[in-house]
Amino acid sequence: MVETYREVAQLIRERGNIVAFTGAGISVESGIPAFRGAQGLWEKYDPADYADIRSFIEEPAKVWTMLREMTRLIFDAKPSPAHLALGLLEKAGFLRSIVTQNVDGLHQRAGNTDVIEYHGNSLYLVCLKCQGKVPFTEEALSLMPYPVCDKCREPLKPDGVFFGEQIPTSAVQRAHEAVQKCRIMMIVGTSGVVYPAAEIPFLAASRGAAVVEINVSPTPFTSGISGYFLQGSASRVLPDVLHILGVE
Ligand code: OAD
Repeated sequence: MVETYREVAQLIRERGNIVAFTGAGISVESGIPAFRGAQGLWEKYDPADYADIRSFIEEPAKVWTMLREMTRLIFDAKPSPAHLALGLLEKAGFLRSIVTQNVDGLHQRAGNTDVIEYHGNSLYLVCLKCQGKVPFTEEALSLMPYPVCDKCREPLKPDGVFFGEQIPTSAVQRAHEAVQKCRIMMIVGTSGVVYPAAEIPFLAASRGAAVVEINVSPTPFTSGISGYFLQGSASRVLPDVLHILGVE
Protein backbone atom coordinates (compact mmCIF):
# COMPACT_ATOMS: atom_id res chain seq x y z
CA MET A 1 0.00 0.00 0.00
CA VAL A 2 2.80 2.45 0.92
CA GLU A 3 4.34 1.67 -2.47
CA THR A 4 1.08 2.64 -4.23
CA TYR A 5 0.98 5.92 -2.29
CA ARG A 6 4.54 6.64 -3.48
CA GLU A 7 3.59 5.83 -7.07
CA VAL A 8 0.61 8.19 -6.88
CA ALA A 9 2.78 10.96 -5.40
CA GLN A 10 5.27 10.45 -8.23
CA LEU A 11 2.48 10.53 -10.83
CA ILE A 12 1.24 13.84 -9.38
CA ARG A 13 4.78 15.29 -9.49
CA GLU A 14 5.24 14.21 -13.11
CA ARG A 15 1.83 15.04 -14.54
CA GLY A 16 0.20 17.60 -12.21
CA ASN A 17 -2.95 19.02 -13.78
CA ILE A 18 -5.43 17.13 -11.60
CA VAL A 19 -9.18 17.42 -11.90
CA ALA A 20 -10.93 15.93 -8.87
CA PHE A 21 -14.39 14.39 -9.12
CA THR A 22 -15.95 14.26 -5.67
CA GLY A 23 -19.03 12.89 -3.97
CA ALA A 24 -20.69 12.64 -0.58
CA GLY A 25 -17.90 10.44 0.89
CA ILE A 26 -15.55 13.43 1.11
CA SER A 27 -18.00 15.22 3.43
CA VAL A 28 -18.68 12.26 5.75
CA GLU A 29 -15.84 13.35 8.07
CA SER A 30 -17.43 16.82 8.07
CA GLY A 31 -20.51 15.28 9.70
CA ILE A 32 -22.73 15.02 6.61
CA PRO A 33 -23.77 11.40 5.98
CA ALA A 34 -23.52 9.95 2.45
CA PHE A 35 -26.66 9.01 0.52
CA ARG A 36 -26.12 5.27 0.04
CA GLY A 37 -24.96 2.59 2.48
CA ALA A 38 -25.97 1.70 6.05
CA GLN A 39 -25.75 5.23 7.50
CA GLY A 40 -26.94 6.86 4.27
CA LEU A 41 -29.71 9.44 3.96
CA TRP A 42 -31.55 7.25 1.44
CA GLU A 43 -31.92 4.48 4.09
CA LYS A 44 -34.14 6.84 6.05
CA TYR A 45 -35.74 8.75 3.17
CA ASP A 46 -36.72 7.08 -0.09
CA PRO A 47 -35.26 9.31 -2.83
CA ALA A 48 -38.33 8.70 -5.01
CA ASP A 49 -40.44 10.39 -2.31
CA TYR A 50 -37.97 13.01 -1.10
CA ALA A 51 -35.46 13.86 -3.83
CA ASP A 52 -37.58 13.87 -6.97
CA ILE A 53 -38.77 17.20 -8.30
CA ARG A 54 -42.33 15.88 -8.68
CA SER A 55 -42.45 15.00 -4.97
CA PHE A 56 -41.28 18.52 -4.14
CA ILE A 57 -43.98 20.09 -6.30
CA GLU A 58 -46.72 17.81 -4.95
CA GLU A 59 -45.74 17.67 -1.27
CA PRO A 60 -43.29 20.45 -0.40
CA ALA A 61 -43.99 20.25 3.36
CA LYS A 62 -43.08 16.56 3.43
CA VAL A 63 -39.88 17.05 1.40
CA TRP A 64 -38.92 19.99 3.63
CA THR A 65 -38.78 17.66 6.69
CA MET A 66 -35.80 15.93 5.03
CA LEU A 67 -34.35 19.19 3.68
CA ARG A 68 -34.35 20.79 7.14
CA GLU A 69 -32.48 17.82 8.62
CA MET A 70 -29.91 17.75 5.80
CA THR A 71 -29.41 21.53 5.76
CA ARG A 72 -28.87 21.68 9.53
CA LEU A 73 -25.93 19.28 9.03
CA ILE A 74 -24.59 21.33 6.10
CA PHE A 75 -24.82 24.60 8.09
CA ASP A 76 -22.92 23.01 11.01
CA ALA A 77 -20.23 21.34 8.84
CA LYS A 78 -16.60 22.38 8.44
CA PRO A 79 -14.21 21.24 5.69
CA SER A 80 -12.76 17.78 6.40
CA PRO A 81 -9.01 16.98 6.23
CA ALA A 82 -9.78 15.64 2.71
CA HIS A 83 -11.33 18.96 1.60
CA LEU A 84 -8.34 20.81 3.06
CA ALA A 85 -5.93 18.47 1.26
CA LEU A 86 -7.56 19.31 -2.10
CA GLY A 87 -7.26 23.01 -1.21
CA LEU A 88 -3.53 22.53 -0.57
CA LEU A 89 -3.10 20.56 -3.82
CA GLU A 90 -4.49 23.55 -5.73
CA LYS A 91 -2.30 26.01 -3.82
CA ALA A 92 0.76 23.88 -4.63
CA GLY A 93 -0.15 24.06 -8.33
CA PHE A 94 -1.07 20.39 -8.83
CA LEU A 95 -4.87 20.63 -8.93
CA ARG A 96 -6.76 22.67 -11.50
CA SER A 97 -10.49 22.12 -10.90
CA ILE A 98 -12.98 20.14 -8.86
CA VAL A 99 -16.17 18.73 -10.35
CA THR A 100 -18.34 17.97 -7.34
CA GLN A 101 -21.71 16.31 -6.92
CA ASN A 102 -21.92 17.83 -3.44
CA VAL A 103 -24.12 20.81 -2.66
CA ASP A 104 -22.50 21.80 0.65
CA GLY A 105 -19.99 24.47 -0.48
CA LEU A 106 -17.18 22.86 1.55
CA HIS A 107 -14.64 22.77 -1.30
CA GLN A 108 -14.82 26.55 -1.64
CA ARG A 109 -14.38 26.91 2.13
CA ALA A 110 -11.26 24.73 1.89
CA GLY A 111 -9.74 27.25 -0.54
CA ASN A 112 -10.46 25.73 -3.96
CA THR A 113 -11.23 28.39 -6.53
CA ASP A 114 -12.49 26.45 -9.56
CA VAL A 115 -15.31 24.32 -8.15
CA ILE A 116 -17.86 23.08 -10.68
CA GLU A 117 -21.08 22.21 -8.86
CA TYR A 118 -22.66 19.54 -11.04
CA HIS A 119 -25.67 19.12 -8.76
CA GLY A 120 -26.04 22.81 -7.83
CA ASN A 121 -25.59 24.38 -4.41
CA SER A 122 -27.96 24.04 -1.45
CA LEU A 123 -26.73 27.21 0.22
CA TYR A 124 -29.18 29.14 -1.99
CA LEU A 125 -32.97 28.89 -2.29
CA VAL A 126 -34.72 29.17 -5.64
CA CYS A 127 -38.33 29.88 -6.59
CA LEU A 128 -39.49 27.44 -9.27
CA LYS A 129 -41.98 30.03 -10.60
CA CYS A 130 -39.90 33.24 -10.99
CA GLN A 131 -36.42 31.58 -10.77
CA GLY A 132 -35.43 34.19 -8.14
CA LYS A 133 -32.59 33.10 -5.85
CA VAL A 134 -31.86 34.12 -2.26
CA PRO A 135 -29.20 32.92 0.19
CA PHE A 136 -30.41 30.08 2.43
CA THR A 137 -30.29 31.60 5.91
CA GLU A 138 -30.80 30.24 9.44
CA GLU A 139 -34.07 32.21 9.49
CA ALA A 140 -35.33 30.45 6.34
CA LEU A 141 -34.44 27.10 7.93
CA SER A 142 -36.74 27.80 10.88
CA LEU A 143 -39.79 28.81 8.79
CA MET A 144 -42.65 26.28 8.97
CA PRO A 145 -43.81 24.42 6.99
CA TYR A 146 -41.29 25.87 4.51
CA PRO A 147 -39.87 29.21 3.30
CA VAL A 148 -41.75 30.91 0.46
CA CYS A 149 -40.80 33.33 -2.32
CA ASP A 150 -41.40 36.98 -1.28
CA LYS A 151 -42.79 37.75 -4.74
CA CYS A 152 -44.81 34.64 -5.72
CA ARG A 153 -45.56 33.08 -2.29
CA GLU A 154 -44.52 29.75 -3.85
CA PRO A 155 -42.44 27.25 -1.79
CA LEU A 156 -38.70 27.86 -2.13
CA LYS A 157 -36.43 24.95 -3.01
CA PRO A 158 -32.71 24.58 -2.19
CA ASP A 159 -30.79 25.17 -5.42
CA GLY A 160 -29.39 21.63 -5.48
CA VAL A 161 -30.45 19.44 -8.41
CA PHE A 162 -33.35 17.07 -7.66
CA PHE A 163 -33.93 13.87 -9.63
CA GLY A 164 -35.90 14.85 -12.74
CA GLU A 165 -34.21 18.27 -12.99
CA GLN A 166 -31.61 19.37 -15.53
CA ILE A 167 -27.93 19.64 -14.65
CA PRO A 168 -27.01 23.37 -14.80
CA THR A 169 -25.81 24.03 -18.39
CA SER A 170 -22.78 26.03 -17.27
CA ALA A 171 -21.67 23.17 -14.99
CA VAL A 172 -21.86 20.68 -17.88
CA GLN A 173 -19.83 22.99 -20.15
CA ARG A 174 -17.20 23.82 -17.54
CA ALA A 175 -16.84 20.16 -16.48
CA HIS A 176 -16.31 19.08 -20.08
CA GLU A 177 -13.70 21.79 -20.61
CA ALA A 178 -11.88 20.85 -17.40
CA VAL A 179 -11.82 17.19 -18.39
CA GLN A 180 -10.34 17.92 -21.85
CA LYS A 181 -7.25 19.39 -20.24
CA CYS A 182 -6.74 17.17 -17.21
CA ARG A 183 -3.88 14.68 -16.98
CA ILE A 184 -4.98 13.06 -13.72
CA MET A 185 -8.59 12.32 -12.81
CA MET A 186 -8.83 11.94 -9.02
CA ILE A 187 -12.12 10.33 -7.98
CA VAL A 188 -12.91 10.85 -4.29
CA GLY A 189 -15.77 9.44 -2.22
CA THR A 190 -18.44 8.75 -4.81
CA SER A 191 -20.38 5.58 -5.57
CA GLY A 192 -20.37 6.52 -9.27
CA VAL A 193 -23.92 5.33 -9.87
CA VAL A 194 -25.69 8.61 -10.62
CA TYR A 195 -25.66 9.75 -14.25
CA PRO A 196 -24.87 11.93 -16.10
CA ALA A 197 -22.36 12.98 -13.39
CA ALA A 198 -20.64 9.58 -13.40
CA GLU A 199 -19.72 10.04 -17.08
CA ILE A 200 -17.09 12.63 -16.12
CA PRO A 201 -14.32 10.23 -14.99
CA PHE A 202 -14.94 7.99 -18.01
CA LEU A 203 -14.57 11.00 -20.34
CA ALA A 204 -11.29 11.94 -18.65
CA ALA A 205 -9.99 8.36 -18.95
CA SER A 206 -10.96 8.19 -22.63
CA ARG A 207 -8.88 11.33 -23.22
CA GLY A 208 -5.81 9.74 -21.67
CA ALA A 209 -5.96 10.95 -18.07
CA ALA A 210 -4.51 8.64 -15.43
CA VAL A 211 -7.22 7.72 -12.92
CA VAL A 212 -6.61 7.68 -9.16
CA GLU A 213 -9.55 6.64 -7.00
CA ILE A 214 -9.96 7.08 -3.23
CA ASN A 215 -12.86 5.36 -1.50
CA VAL A 216 -13.54 3.14 1.51
CA SER A 217 -14.96 0.50 -0.84
CA PRO A 218 -14.71 -0.36 -4.56
CA THR A 219 -17.09 1.20 -7.09
CA PRO A 220 -17.90 0.65 -10.78
CA PHE A 221 -14.87 2.87 -11.58
CA THR A 222 -12.47 0.62 -9.66
CA SER A 223 -12.34 -2.34 -12.02
CA GLY A 224 -13.25 -0.21 -15.05
CA ILE A 225 -10.87 2.75 -15.27
CA SER A 226 -9.01 3.27 -11.98
CA GLY A 227 -5.29 2.80 -12.47
CA TYR A 228 -4.73 3.33 -8.75
CA PHE A 229 -7.24 2.52 -6.03
CA LEU A 230 -6.33 3.91 -2.61
CA GLN A 231 -8.74 2.23 -0.22
CA GLY A 232 -9.64 4.08 2.97
CA SER A 233 -11.16 7.26 4.30
CA ALA A 234 -10.35 10.24 2.08
CA SER A 235 -9.52 12.24 5.23
CA ARG A 236 -6.74 9.78 6.03
CA VAL A 237 -5.59 8.85 2.50
CA LEU A 238 -5.29 12.35 0.99
CA PRO A 239 -3.21 13.88 3.83
CA ASP A 240 -0.91 10.80 3.63
CA VAL A 241 -0.40 11.29 -0.13
CA LEU A 242 0.29 15.00 0.44
CA HIS A 243 2.82 14.14 3.14
CA ILE A 244 4.76 11.94 0.69
CA LEU A 245 4.50 14.72 -1.92
CA GLY A 246 5.94 17.18 0.59
CA VAL A 247 2.81 19.39 0.47
CA GLU A 248 1.72 20.14 4.06
P1 OAD B 1 -23.14 8.05 -2.35
O1 OAD B 1 -23.76 8.08 -1.01
O2 OAD B 1 -23.83 7.33 -3.44
O3 OAD B 1 -21.68 7.41 -2.25
C1 OAD B 1 -20.76 7.82 -1.28
C2 OAD B 1 -19.46 7.10 -1.56
O4 OAD B 1 -18.50 7.57 -0.61
C3 OAD B 1 -19.54 5.58 -1.41
O5 OAD B 1 -18.89 4.98 -2.52
C4 OAD B 1 -18.78 5.32 -0.11
O6 OAD B 1 -18.08 4.07 -0.15
C5 OAD B 1 -17.81 6.47 -0.09
N1 OAD B 1 -17.33 6.89 1.24
C6 OAD B 1 -18.01 6.93 2.40
N2 OAD B 1 -17.26 7.45 3.38
C7 OAD B 1 -16.06 7.76 2.83
C8 OAD B 1 -14.86 8.34 3.32
N3 OAD B 1 -14.74 8.72 4.59
N4 OAD B 1 -13.83 8.49 2.46
C9 OAD B 1 -13.95 8.11 1.15
N5 OAD B 1 -15.05 7.56 0.63
C10 OAD B 1 -16.11 7.39 1.45
O7 OAD B 1 -22.83 9.58 -2.74
P2 OAD B 1 -22.53 10.19 -4.18
O8 OAD B 1 -21.72 9.27 -5.00
O9 OAD B 1 -22.03 11.56 -3.96
O10 OAD B 1 -27.65 13.36 -6.17
O11 OAD B 1 -24.00 10.26 -4.77
C11 OAD B 1 -24.19 10.80 -6.03
C12 OAD B 1 -25.52 11.52 -6.06
O12 OAD B 1 -26.55 10.65 -5.58
C13 OAD B 1 -25.62 12.72 -5.13
O13 OAD B 1 -25.04 13.89 -5.69
C14 OAD B 1 -27.09 12.88 -4.94
C15 OAD B 1 -27.42 11.42 -4.68
O14 OAD B 1 -28.72 11.04 -4.89
C16 OAD B 1 -28.86 13.95 -6.18
O15 OAD B 1 -29.53 14.06 -5.17
C17 OAD B 1 -29.29 14.42 -7.54
